[in-house]
Amino acid sequence: MHVDGTEKKWFILSFLMAFAMMGILAAYAINKNIHPPSNVEVIDSTTLHLSKEFNEDNLGVKQEPDGSVRVTMVAARYGFFPHNMKVPVNTPVKIRLASADVLHGIHTEYTNFNTMVVPGYVSEVNTEFPKKGTFPMFCNEYCGLGHDYMWSQLNVVSKEEFETYLAESKKGEQ
Ligand code: CUA
Repeated sequence: MHVDGTEKKWFILSFLMAFAMMGILAAYAINKNIHPPSNVEVIDSTTLHLSKEFNEDNLGVKQEPDGSVRVTMVAARYGFFPHNMKVPVNTPVKIRLASADVLHGIHTEYTNFNTMVVPGYVSEVNTEFPKKGTFPMFCNEYCGLGHDYMWSQLNVVSKEEFETYLAESKKGEQ
């Protein structure tokens, strides 16, 4: 079979380009710690309020014995509960989310907190927030008429401020 010289050159070049782009994507993802959240864990969305983990009293931010933070959230039309989440800066945070009704998504710009919340599954994101400040967490999957208004607030505070906040919320419980 005769292949024209120029054609052969472009054939090789196009493959090289495709591989180079894949390489750039992979390097960027590894470098910036971007990865698809992978967690397969099923839960019954209709009885979330009866579950041990996702019942109303258990939602919110908690500190683990090793100093890391665990956030338990429920996504439901039209909000993420709790509405306001306070986490310490530069600390490992494990966020666990479940939907009480339909498909939602949650993301915060400039961070790698971004996941779909599929009814029937527990979404888990392990991340660290490197910058202090107040950020909106938006729903990014169309979930109904109130979708545009579905968002919550993320407050990334200093470790000291977080300790104070924990101590105060404990006092409030007593
Ligand atoms: Cu929830 Cu869109």
